[in-house]
Amino acid sequence: MLRLHGVHAYYGDSHILQGVDLVVGEGEVVALLGRNGMGKTTTISAIVGLVPPRRGSVRFGSEELVGRSPYEIARLGIGLVPQGRRLFPELTVRENLTLAMRSSGDGDGWVLDRIHEMFPILEMRSQVPAGRLSGGEQQMAAIARALLTNPRLVLLDEPSEGLAPIIVEQIGEIVSSLRDRGLSVLLVEQHLPMALAVADRCAIMSKGVIVYEGTAAELAADDDARARHLGV
Ligand SMILES: Nc1ncnc2c1ncn2[C@@H]1O[C@H](COP(=O)(O)OP(=O)(O)O)[C@@H](O)[C@H]1O
Ligand SMILES: [Mg+2]
Repeated sequence: MLRLHGVHAYYGDSHILQGVDLVVGEGEVVALLGRNGMGKTTTISAIVGLVPPRRGSVRFGSEELVGRSPYEIARLGIGLVPQGRRLFPELTVRENLTLAMRSSGDGDGWVLDRIHEMFPILEMRSQVPAGRLSGGEQQMAAIARALLTNPRLVLLDEPSEGLAPIIVEQIGEIVSSLRDRGLSVLLVEQHLPMALAVADRCAIMSKGVIVYEGTAAELAADDDARARHLGV
């Protein structure tokens, strides 16, 4: 479904991604782990074209994404849930979601009714400015917004950041339910227990390259890899 091969990306002269190889299979949840500043968000940005790779390839199905605009990439079926949610705080929940539906074009797929079924709280809060929602509600709205673009692959960048443990658990359940609905997921996550609980496979990034890959069960059993690459 998604295949990064030898991806290099820069901010100006800073060479951040130094040959990233990563695969997300059809219907698979892959967790991308690693300490702060290692290049996880940059990897997501490289996939969606916000930080265009200078070398390497990003294949999505049969399409090459390198060289395409973020808009085109979204239209091909990749939904982004950015780090920090990035909702419009003064707009209502409904307005935030409606904007996503407009930009996605067609009305089928994830219509608002289905979103409200999955996230009843968002229907209850539909007239509330997004900035007034709790962190967990904002995260749900950000996920809903991505789903309304009708993606086949969802990229989530640290969805549990700043949330209470009980809410982190809920976010984990939501990620699992995306897989149950046939979506593929790339999950950047600092919360290791959640990542291990929901991911099929894990990749660990350090200094702009993938330094470990294994199933969630393998990483859970590998004390040495966790200590070396994650410090836990
Ligand atoms: N907009 C930017 N301009 C310059 N450097 C950046 C920018 N964003 C991130 N960086 C640097 O790129 C590196 C990787 O950052 P990032 O991908 O955000 O890491 P992570 O998501 O793993 O915490 C860090 O050294 C960070 O300081
Ligand atoms: Mg990040």
